[in-house]
Amino acid sequence: MMGFGEVRPRRLRTTPAMRRMVSETSVEARSLVLPMFVAEGLTDPRPIASMPGVVQHTRDSARKAVAEAAELGLGGVMLFGVPEHKDATGSGALDEDGILNVAIRDARAEVGDALVVMSDLCLDEFTDHGHCGVLDAEGRVDNDATLEIYAEMAVAQARAGAHMLGPSGMMDGQVGVVRRALDDAGLVDTSVLAYAAKYASAFYGPFREAVSSSLQGDRRTYQQDPANGREALREVALDVAEGADVVMVKPAMGFLDVVAAVRAAVDVPVAAYNISGEYSMVEAAAAQGWIDRDAAIAETLLSIRRAGADIVLTYWAAEYAARLV
Ligand code: PBG
Repeated sequence: MMGFGEVRPRRLRTTPAMRRMVSETSVEARSLVLPMFVAEGLTDPRPIASMPGVVQHTRDSARKAVAEAAELGLGGVMLFGVPEHKDATGSGALDEDGILNVAIRDARAEVGDALVVMSDLCLDEFTDHGHCGVLDAEGRVDNDATLEIYAEMAVAQARAGAHMLGPSGMMDGQVGVVRRALDDAGLVDTSVLAYAAKYASAFYGPFREAVSSSLQGDRRTYQQDPANGREALREVALDVAEGADVVMVKPAMGFLDVVAAVRAAVDVPVAAYNISGEYSMVEAAAAQGWIDRDAAIAETLLSIRRAGADIVLTYWAAEYAARLV
């Protein structure tokens, strides 16, 4: 017997209806964004072995997936291009007939404004060395030379029809340069989702397969050290000052403290990216029968929302939204 019977939190957990009524957080389709890979020169979608259930799309299958995402009421899609040919400067990123720009046009032709069409603004999918920028004579990632390319990429992606651009290369000044390039080109309505606090994470592993990356080494001279939380607030403040419309924390699960701190620090929408390795861990454990897959997915997305993310990029977006209807 408890000595003082009045205070019993369990009363609010007695029935499913009671729990539903007092639930503090929900995951809605409109908050979810589906990342998609569109590969050049494919005749059939190609499964990504390290991400069971995720594929590199053909142009055709990508169009269908974008249409389905719109029907499900998703907030948006985030498009990544996988070019057939890569080179040192990532020139495929600037080509208006390059795979990513073509995929953006396809997506807009398919769904118009029914959801937010976003595109990854980064060079790593396009460079033969796999870095997010171009290299200087010593082989280091050259910040300011990379910014010039990002500016041109931004205009190309916006002209192709992207509603929102996601600069993800963690170059200093990238948001400001992209914003100015868009404004100078008269593309004032194209918005910027800044990958503001992006960490050098081991959990990007499966993504490297997803974009057929040729990266040797790591990204620790531009992505953040996972040890640093305060530094994220500095990065976020800079991006907001440079004109970011939305700021993102990435990865999500190991960085929920950062999501919460960013949510408290800014008044723009906050996104979090539930990345490839987070997806693959749950899928792999579920495939072994070690965890309940559906419950683990729900708990993952709920945790990211509870930490304060308004928007969640997740490979489960379509599946989860389908559960809600
Ligand atoms: C860079 C980029 C990466 C991801 C999204 N944008 C890779 C990286 O920074 O190494 C990772 C996404 C994921 O792991 O799901 N263009």
